[in-house]
Order: sequence, then structure tokens, then C-alpha cells
Amino acid sequence: MSVPIPTVGIRRGILPSGERAVSRAVLVQFSDLLLTEDSTMRDYYRRSYARMRGYYMPQHFMEIPYWIPIVASMLPDEHFRKELMVVDDLDVAHSRLAEAAERDVFFFSALDANVEQLLHLASTGATMVVGGYVDPEVFLGHPHVSFLHDVANLPDFLPGARPRTTLDYRLFDGLQCIPRFSMSSGCSFRCNFCTVPTQVVPADPAGYEAEIAAFAPLDFRLAFIDDKSFGDPAANNWQDLGKVRDIFAALHHGFEGFIIQTPPSLAARPGFLADCRDMGVRYVEFGVETAHDGLLKYLRKPFRTKHLYKASQTIRELGLYVIPNFIMGIPGDDYKGTVQWVREFVDIMPAVNINWLAAHYGNERGHLDLPVETFGDRDQNTVTKSWLDQEEIAAGLGAVQEIYAVTEAYWRDRATYPGEQVSAQ
Ligand SMILES: C[S@@+](CC[C@H](N)C(=O)[O-])C[C@H]1O[C@@H](n2cnc3c(N)ncnc32)[C@H](O)[C@@H]1O
Ligand code: SF4
Repeated sequence: MSVPIPTVGIRRGILPSGERAVSRAVLVQFSDLLLTEDSTMRDYYRRSYARMRGYYMPQHFMEIPYWIPIVASMLPDEHFRKELMVVDDLDVAHSRLAEAAERDVFFFSALDANVEQLLHLASTGATMVVGGYVDPEVFLGHPHVSFLHDVANLPDFLPGARPRTTLDYRLFDGLQCIPRFSMSSGCSFRCNFCTVPTQVVPADPAGYEAEIAAFAPLDFRLAFIDDKSFGDPAANNWQDLGKVRDIFAALHHGFEGFIIQTPPSLAARPGFLADCRDMGVRYVEFGVETAHDGLLKYLRKPFRTKHLYKASQTIRELGLYVIPNFIMGIPGDDYKGTVQWVREFVDIMPAVNINWLAAHYGNERGHLDLPVETFGDRDQNTVTKSWLDQEEIAAGLGAVQEIYAVTEAYWRDRATYPGEQVSAQ
């Protein structure tokens, strides 16, 4: 059963069993409903997810904001009474912060897309701890706002906080969602738009069982494997996925399998996708970006369209499904190759993910050689870019519409894994 998360309302705190809690810690997340007024993409996902077995989409965000269970794990119950606040009305949130007690601490994850709202809330004078991918200088005029360059530093300045431990999902009790599970961090490729760290660090398998058990408050059928390029030889523990599946199945009734993400060149290796399927993979996300070899080279993607076609054919033969990530707004793209590929493989493609090329803050790789001038240039959800004229924006939007229409026309009366009983949404 799905438990709706109160909108701006502050969710009931978790009271510690023993000692009296000394501080109220409010973990604040901006709702997608507030940040993205245009609901075209959200509506597309809602319709698509309803046809994709195991896919659940919470009301306020595509998935659980990963920073919240991390920070919650660092705030022990004996020192903090934790609450979740989901903001979909900025005025109400402002009043809540303005009424805060002196000991209350509000935690945020900043993005270019929410920094304006964050600064508005900072004007209340409430004590705030902010992390994320923005220029910390924007908070310079707010001495009550602490900017955390690395969440690992939290215990250094917040009395009572401890180093990260098993993730704490209790603030999302009962939420229907797709939790993320990580077997490695980083990615050894260096696509030049991407901010994922280039050092690959495999996770310690000794922690798997506790991390998987920690999902107990959640309602889910699928887990998203957070490894950025699943199957990367630099993180050979991907071959343990079968054991991970057995732990999930033992601990979570109704668990059905995994979603992985990986570039098509890794996916095209002989036998790889079959191994993935045998270890419980049900859906594969490809960072396709564009089906145009010259532009893939420009982006420094580690594959070419021949890998994309080969891997897609294997997905079809194995009865798996693919969800591609596309990047629109790459200078010079006419989207023809991308639309063509979608049309050829729509039967394995129940949905697509759309992004608009962005030069993210903190991307040290650069090399995109683009004029980065506006806020939109740094935001992958914003359509307007300094490097695109109106005609080019219209071409990108037209391609998105066409891709959405092609997938929806095919999938309107179909569902993934049709032989299995349809999941309750
Ligand atoms: C973290 S990547 C993982 C994908 C996977 N490693 C692969 O390349 O196949 C997820 C997706 O986010 C999108 N993305 C990441 N950085 C972006 C940027 N600067 N601008 C636009 N989209 C971006 C891309 O579509 C990318 O495939
Ligand atoms: S886009 Fe994917 S493959 Fe490329 S660097 Fe980022 S995570 Fe790695």
C-alpha cells in the first residue's frame, strides 16, 4: 500500500526509544511538482510506468532522494528527532522555517535548479546545512547556512552526528518506489559532459545484507543498481549480482529483479546480457545520448552506433527491455539517427529518459567547447541553451515529441512482462 508523503507538511518524527532527543533535524526535499511546472515529462512517465511491471513513481520525485537516507544514517536517534519535509508550496515552507526553534537544523541538497528557492528559505535565518553541486559562494551572505563540500564532513561540525552507516529509509515508510542499491561507485569512462568520479570503487560485500535489509520500510518490486556502468571490468564484483538477488529475494517478499545502467559497448560483449538476465536483471538503461557517431565522438562516449544496434538486438532476443537516456541540444544534432533507432527497437523500449545537454557545475572535464553563460546552460532539464538558436530548440522539442509519440503509440495497449500478473500500481 502506498503512503502519501505530506506535501509541505512535516512528517511525523522518529522518536528515539531511550534518551530524549536534543535537536530536531528536518531533511528538506523540493517536490518535482514545484521545480518543474511543465508536466509533459512527468505525465509521460506516469503513463509509461503504469505499463512497466515493477515501476513505481512516488508523487513528489522520480525516486527517493538518495542523500536523505545517507544523512539520516549519520544522525543517531539519541541526538536527533528526524523529520522529512517535502516542499511543494514555497510560502508554507518559508513559514515553517521562520517558526523554527533555535536548535532545529534544516538539511538540503542544492542543485542549480533549486538554488533560487533555497536562497528564499535561507532568508528566514533558520539554521541550514546544504550540500550539492552548486557554487557555494551563492550562500556567502547567509552566515546561518553551512555548505558541506562532502557529506562525510558532517560529524566534524555537527555535534552528535556520526560517520555514514547503513542507510536509514524510515522517513519513507510505506512508500512505493524503486530503491537504489550500489555495488560500486564511480565510472572508468570519461564522457566529457559527465560529473561521475572517474575512480571506480567496488563496495564491500560484507555490508550487502545490512544495506538490503534497510529497505524494509519501503514497498518495492525492483531495485535500481546504482553502478554507473554495470559490468565495468574495473568493478568486477558485478558478477556477484546473483548472490545479491538471493539476498533481496530472501529479505523482501515479492522482489522481482533489477534495473541496471551501462553503455551499449559493455552491453554488446558476447554473453554479458544473458549473464545479467540470469542474475535477475529485468530492465537495462543505456546512456545512448544520440545515435550519431560523430556526436558520440564529440561527447567522448565509449561506444558507437554499431554497439547500440548489436546490444539492442541481444536485448530483444533475451526478452529484456531497454530504457535509453537521450541528450537533446547537442550542437549540430538533427536527431534523425536517434528517432530511427527508436522506431526500429520500440518493441523493447517501454519508455525513454530525456535530458538536455548541460555543462554541470563541478564538471572538471570540460572539453565540450560551449559558451556557458546562463543558468539553463548548467541545467539538464532546461531547454534553452546559449549554444542553440530557436530553430535548433524547436528541432530538439520536435524530436522529443516524436520519440514520445512513437513509444506511446506502440505501448498504449501493451505491458512489459505480459505473461506475468500485472503489478498493483
Ligand atoms: C550517470 S549517466 C549513467 C549512464 C551510463 N553510465 C551510460 O553512459 O550508459 C546517466 C545519464 O545522465 C545524463 N547526463 C549526465 N550528465 C549530463 C549532462 N551534463 N547533460 C545532459 N545529460 C546528462 C545522460 O543522459 C546519461 O546517460
Ligand atoms: S555518462 Fe556513463 S559512461 Fe559516461 S562517464 Fe558518465 S557514467 Fe561513465
